[in-house]
Amino acid sequence: MKTQNPSQRLRAERKSASGKRCVPTSGSGTGAGVFLFLLASGIAGTAAFSQAERSDVAAGAKTYATVCAPCHGGADSHATNLSGERFLSEWSGKSARALYARILSTMPQTDPGSLDTQTVLEVTAYLLTRNRQTLPEGTLTTAKQLDSIIIQK
Ligand code: HEC
Repeated sequence: MKTQNPSQRLRAERKSASGKRCVPTSGSGTGAGVFLFLLASGIAGTAAFSQAERSDVAAGAKTYATVCAPCHGGADSHATNLSGERFLSEWSGKSARALYARILSTMPQTDPGSLDTQTVLEVTAYLLTRNRQTLPEGTLTTAKQLDSIIIQK
């Protein structure tokens, strides 16, 4: 039976360790962390929980985490925190379409008009769900579907 001496074994282990690719993960890892945090803090525990499974809401949450959260992220953010009382006192009684239109034409504040209609639709779906509004079943495919949704306290 062939035996390796300790230094041969060490060399072999080093070789396999250096053969592994080191992929930098900090960037995307942070994004995913923010995303999960927002999902956990914004949706969990509400009646809308099952809506988090929706692909439009999930995509919107992702956009929110990367595009909107830097300004609207938390209580200490420099723009309004778009959830809870602050959100509902501004938007209850208005249509979801008005929220969509507001986002489409004025946000992100530093680059309005940079988001396509589908992306804004998704982020609107996310904000509505996060604020316990009920969306029509399936996924939103056109802004027209928002006309009949009046945001409720
Ligand atoms: C560069 C910072 C910045 C980014 C990025 C940004 N916003 Fe805003 N947003 C603001 C500021 C500041 C205000 C308040 C001033 C105003 O009304 O325009 C605001 C206001 C709003 C309002 C109205 C406030 C209210 O009381 O309801 C909504 C809705 C909104 N933003 C949604 C979004 C969404 C959704 C995104 C991501 C797609 C986004 N914003 C990205 C800075 C930002």
